[in-house]
Amino acid sequence: ARLVVLVSGSGTNLQALIDASTEPDYGVDIVAVGADRDGIEGLARAERHGIETFVLRTSQFDDRAAWDVALAERVAAREPDLVVLAGFMKLTGPAFLALFGGRTLNTHPALSPSFPGMHGPRDALAYGVKVTGATLFVVDAGVDTGPIVAQVAVPVLDTDDEAALHERIKTSERAMLVEWVGTLARHDFHIDDRAVRLGRPAN
Ligand code: GRF
Repeated sequence: ARLVVLVSGSGTNLQALIDASTEPDYGVDIVAVGADRDGIEGLARAERHGIETFVLRTSQFDDRAAWDVALAERVAAREPDLVVLAGFMKLTGPAFLALFGGRTLNTHPALSPSFPGMHGPRDALAYGVKVTGATLFVVDAGVDTGPIVAQVAVPVLDTDDEAALHERIKTSERAMLVEWVGTLARHDFHIDDRAVRLGRPAN
């Protein structure tokens, strides 16, 4: 399967996918890595592996809608089967979802529906939960609301600060992401109400 990955930061999730995709049986070819900002380690990781990169900053466009259209077109040019948002810190918009809805995955460092948004680990710590984790989901128009593909639980330790907790979550998050991107790349899948199911729809 052809995969486009979008990043905004350190790109450790991207790196896990790059490493997995060097194994032919994994069934994933990363055909481009896109970002909403320059100078990030995620882009450098792609370049080191000879993967095509592109950057579309929102500031280059009149408004979010124009950025969204440009992003959709740029991703579409690489003809991906799947798109993964791997620490991509922007919401994709209607133009993007019209083309890639139902086949764009995102990962969130909390157990949805708890603690959506930018600060999953911080919000989990502040609430005092003893277990949090990560959620892999199919992107819809909401913030971290789409149909859930997989979740992994991670304990919160008394000694945790936000960085330590986020790092522990990310270790589990990467393993979940690699497992499920491979599975979804190698099988057809569809969404039945909110359930993500392998195989083609019945009817
Ligand atoms: C991940 O925890 C992701 O869920 C969150 O930001 C982190 C990205 O990490 N939105 P990286 O850039 O893949 O290292």
